[in-house]
Amino acid sequence: MAKKKLNVAMIGYGFMGRAHSNAYCKVNHFFDLEYQPVLKVACARNAEQIKTFADNWGYESTETDWRKVIERKDVDAIDICTPNNLHKDIAIAAAEAGKMILCEKPLAMNGPEGEEMCKAVEKAGVANTVWYNYRRVPAVTLAKQLIDEGRLGKIFHYRAVFLQDWTISAELPQGGQGLWRLDAAAAGSGVTGDLLAHCIDTAIWLNGSMKDVSAMTETFIKERVHTATGQKQAVGIDDACAFLARFKNGSLATFESTRYARGHKALYTFEINGEHASIQWDLHDLHRLNYFDHRDDSIVRGWRSVHVTDGDMPYMDKWWVPGLQIGYEHSFVHQVADFLDNVAKGKPTAPTFRDALETQHICDAVLKSAKTGSWEQVPS
Ligand SMILES: NC(=O)c1ccc[n+]([C@@H]2O[C@H](COP(=O)([O-])OP(=O)(O)OC[C@H]3O[C@@H](n4cnc5c(N)ncnc54)[C@H](O)[C@@H]3O)[C@@H](O)[C@H]2O)c1
Repeated sequence: MAKKKLNVAMIGYGFMGRAHSNAYCKVNHFFDLEYQPVLKVACARNAEQIKTFADNWGYESTETDWRKVIERKDVDAIDICTPNNLHKDIAIAAAEAGKMILCEKPLAMNGPEGEEMCKAVEKAGVANTVWYNYRRVPAVTLAKQLIDEGRLGKIFHYRAVFLQDWTISAELPQGGQGLWRLDAAAAGSGVTGDLLAHCIDTAIWLNGSMKDVSAMTETFIKERVHTATGQKQAVGIDDACAFLARFKNGSLATFESTRYARGHKALYTFEINGEHASIQWDLHDLHRLNYFDHRDDSIVRGWRSVHVTDGDMPYMDKWWVPGLQIGYEHSFVHQVADFLDNVAKGKPTAPTFRDALETQHICDAVLKSAKTGSWEQVPS
C-alpha cells in the first residue's frame, strides 16, 4: 500500500540536523509504518552551506529564513535542530501555523519559556515531541520495562553522571557552531541544560517525579573570547554541576555533570538500586544492560551483562539477528518510528512538550539551588 507522505522541514544542519536526517532516511526501510517522511526543505542562515547539506541528504529545497519555512503550505512537520535560544520562537510560530513539531532538547531556555511552548502546541492541537533520544536506546527501554514489571521492587537509589572533557582549554571561544554551548545567551545554561537534562529526563521516566533538589555549580573559566565581538566576555554558563535529589517515591538520588573530566568523552551512566535488584547502564557500552537480582540462587548470584540484541528486546526485532548490536543513531530512528506510528494512531509521542517541561522545571530548580545554597522544591 502506498505510504502517506509527511513533509519535514529541518531547521539547522549541525550535529542533530544530521542525526535526524539520517533517521528520516532510514526509518521506512526498517519499520512498517503508514507514514513516510519526505525531506522537503532544509533551513539555515548560510545559503551555500545549507545547499550542500540539502544535496547531501536529499532535501528537495532550501530556505535561509525559518519564518519562510513555517509559512510554506507544503510542510507538515518542523524539526527544530537549532541552538536552544531559538526553540521557543520557532516552536510557537510553527504551532500557530498548525505544523507538527519535533523539537531538540532542552525544550527551552527555562521553565517559563517552556510553559509558553506547551500552551502553544496544546492550543493548536498539533503533534509534538522532544528529542530526549536516550529513552529509545533499547537497553534503556529495557530498563524501563524491568522497572515497570516490578522486578527491582521498591527503589532506594538513583545515580547518574554525564562527564565530558572538551572545554578545558581556556582558548576555546564562546559562540559559533557547536561552541554556542559556552554562551549562556544561546544555551540558557551549561552542563545542566545540555547534559543533565538528558539524565533528568531518563530519571523521571524510569523513577517518577522529583520533589526537591540541592545543587552546586562552578564556572572554572570565567572569561572567554566571544566569536560575535572578538572580545573577552564573562562566561555565564555552569561548567560543572552536582546535585542531590529526592524523588516522590522516597528514593534518593545524586547527579553529576562536567565538561572538565579529563579522559571522559560522553560518559553517561546511571544506576538504580531497588530492594530486589539493581540496574546499571553506560552510554559507552550502550547495547548492554547490567542487572543484579538478589533472588537468584546464591551460588550463581552476580551482575549479569545483558547483551540487548535479541528479537524480544525493545526495538531489536526491527534490526539484525540476535548478537548483532546497533548504536547511537538508532535511538533517533526509533523516535521517528514511534512519532510516525503515533501520528497515524492520533496518539502523543513521549516525551511531549508537556513531559519535557518537567525536566526544564528541574533544571531551573537545580540552578536556583546552586545560587541560593538551599534545597529547592521542584514546581509541579
Ligand atoms: N538529543 C541529543 O542527544 C542532542 C545532542 C546534541 C545536541 N542536541 C540539541 O540539538 C540542538 C542543536 O545542537 P547541535 O549540536 O546540532 O548544534 P550545531 O551547532 O551542530 O548546529 C546548530 C545548527 O543551527 C543552525 N542555526 C543557528 N541559528 C539559526 C537560525 N537563526 N536559523 C536557522 N538555523 C540556525 C546552525 O546553522 C547549525 O546548523 C540544541 O538544542 C542541542 O541542545 C541534542
